[in-house]
Amino acid sequence: MDSHKLYNDDCFDVMSKLDENSIDCIITDPPYFLSNDGITCKSGKMVSVNKGTWDVRKGFDEIYSFNLNWIEESYRILKPGGTLWVSGTYHNIYTIGSIVDSIDDFRILNNITWVKTAPPPNLSCRFFTHSTETLLWIRKGKKTKHYFNYDLMKEINQGKQMKDVWVIGRPKKAEKELGKHPTQKPEELIERIILSSTEKNDLVLDMFNGSGTTGVVAVRNNRRYIGIELDKEFYEISKRRIENELKKPKLVL
Ligand SMILES: C[S@@+](CC[C@H](N)C(=O)[O-])C[C@H]1O[C@@H](n2cnc3c(N)ncnc32)[C@H](O)[C@@H]1O
Repeated sequence: MDSHKLYNDDCFDVMSKLDENSIDCIITDPPYFLSNDGITCKSGKMVSVNKGTWDVRKGFDEIYSFNLNWIEESYRILKPGGTLWVSGTYHNIYTIGSIVDSIDDFRILNNITWVKTAPPPNLSCRFFTHSTETLLWIRKGKKTKHYFNYDLMKEINQGKQMKDVWVIGRPKKAEKELGKHPTQKPEELIERIILSSTEKNDLVLDMFNGSGTTGVVAVRNNRRYIGIELDKEFYEISKRRIENELKKPKLVL
C-alpha cells in the first residue's frame, strides 16, 4: 500500500471489505449527533449549533445501532494488541463507552480529558461553559500487549509522567488554509496520539476522516493511513491537506 488511501464512501461499506486483524490503530472522531437547531457562539457571534446533515440528532436506537456497527467492525479489523482511539462529548461518549464495555475482549486503557484553552462562551448563562472533550483509548485483547511510547511522552512533558488531562488549543489558522471542517481536530492533539501509540509504518485508520487531520499527522510521521469520508467536500479538503503534507520535508522520529 502507498503512504495513504482515501475513500469518498460510506465507512460501513469500506470497513466490511477490510481484512480482519489488519489495522494497527484506529483514531476516530465519529458524529456527536449534537445538531439540534440550538445556538452557540463562534468568533463572538451567535450562530446555529448545526454542523451538517451527518450530525443531526437522531433517536437513541438509531444512534446506538450506528455506534454498535462501527465499533464491532473496528474490533474485527484491529490486530490483536491494536488500539482504538475515539473522541466525543457527553452527547455520544457514554453510549460509545457502554458498547465498548459490552465487547468482552476490549479493554479501556485510558480516559483522556482534552481541555480546550479557548472554548466558546455559554450564551444562555444557564450552564457551565463546555470546555472539554473525552478521548477513550481502547485495546483489542484483554491480555495482549499494546504499544506505548512512555519515554517520549515523559520527555515532551518536561521529564514528568504524562497525565490523562491534556491542555491543547484549537486548530491553528494554517491547519484550515486548504479548507476547514466544523469539528476539525487540532493537529497537536492527534500528533500526541500518533506518537504515543503507533510506530513507524503502522497502518492507521480513521473512518470518520472529516478534513483528514488524522491522515495529515499520520503521513507526517511515516505511518500508513486509510481515511474514509462520506462527504465529497470534506474528502477533497483531506486530499489537498494530505498531498500538501507529503510535499514537506519529513520529520525523523
Ligand atoms: C466529527 S467529524 C470528523 C472531523 C475530523 N476529526 C477532522 O479533524 O476534520 C465526523 C465526519 O464523519 C463523516 N461521516 C458521517 N457518517 C459517515 C459514514 N457513514 N461514513 C463515512 N464518513 C461519515 C462526516 O461527514 C464528518 O465529516
